[in-house]
Amino acid sequence: MPPPIWLMRQAGRYLPEYRAIRAEAKGFLYLCYDPAMAAEATLQPVRRFGLDAAILFSDILVVPHALGLAVTFEDERGPEVERVGSARDLDRLDPTAAVSRLAPVFETVRRVRAALASDATLIGFAGAPWTVATYMVEGGTSRDFAATKRWAFSDPEGFGRLIDTIETATIDYLVAQVAAGADVVQLFDSWAGVLADEDFERWCVAPTARIVAAVKVRADVPVIGFPRGAGVLIDRYAAATGVDAVGLDTTVPLAWARDVLQPKVTVQGNLDPLLLVTGGAAMERRARAILEALGRRPFIFNLGHGVVPETPPDHVAALVACVRGWRP
Ligand code: CP3
Repeated sequence: MPPPIWLMRQAGRYLPEYRAIRAEAKGFLYLCYDPAMAAEATLQPVRRFGLDAAILFSDILVVPHALGLAVTFEDERGPEVERVGSARDLDRLDPTAAVSRLAPVFETVRRVRAALASDATLIGFAGAPWTVATYMVEGGTSRDFAATKRWAFSDPEGFGRLIDTIETATIDYLVAQVAAGADVVQLFDSWAGVLADEDFERWCVAPTARIVAAVKVRADVPVIGFPRGAGVLIDRYAAATGVDAVGLDTTVPLAWARDVLQPKVTVQGNLDPLLLVTGGAAMERRARAILEALGRRPFIFNLGHGVVPETPPDHVAALVACVRGWRP
């Protein structure tokens, strides 16, 4: 049997049917909070490509929004988040109220579960606290994470309160997704790769381990962790966080993943999203190399980061056919 396949950011602007509902929604956040539209966006790629899993259509930034911060998604500019600059700003964030503001997302999960084939997996998700914190402290996407690092390095206790706030909301958020019908949850730590050693431990590993433990006490669900860019620290992450599977970014060497990680943990990944844009023989050669290296032990085929808007949908269909045609 070939391994299961789904793709990070499998819903989105590369699909004409997504652009059609996106044009109808008043804004991206409205789309995330409209259960009918969000369920439709979730199901679109599964319907078109027959993927093995659906991933809830939402965003990692709904958590800062539910904590009470203004969040906007202007086209071309990327997301903007009302800045949190110091421990004083934390007093107005209420982590225990956040989950009730996210009720529309749980309704989306219920609708998707009801519409999805029983053998298809529904993946819920959240951003990991470090990555979500970078958006809150920088006010959006960043090149160097200077403000976040300066706060974390100079005032670890205050910054730790921000991490705790996100963590508390994230635990409730994931547990509620599972209660609504999510079969698996993934934690996206997209900026894990900018921290070293003890900072990686304190701001990525420890909060993730606490979330995994707390979620598993309250919900019986496998957890996938995606510490993008963490390099050799992925080994430590996999061992110490309690995740059931680890997502590998595009730069992780296949032989290392096979020999070091796979004996201990299920791995997921890691085709370069730009090879999916390229398509053809180059894409299929690399997809088969990934399958040959990792496909004989517990493995989920995916990209090493999200689908980009320039991706031709036909290339996704070709990738699914390539994976499905492979035999161990
Ligand atoms: O299909 C899916 O994977 C489900 C939906 C999903 C979205 N965002 C929808 C989205 C998921 C899982 C995410 C995760 C997410 N969001 C991450 C982690 C993964 C990663 O890419 O590293 C991050 C860092 C974000 C924050 C975010 N949201 C950014 C930086 C942007 C702008 C850049 C971009 O890719 O468009 C978004 C917007 C966003 N999230 C869109 C979609 C479909 C596009 C907005 C639009 O349609 O107007």
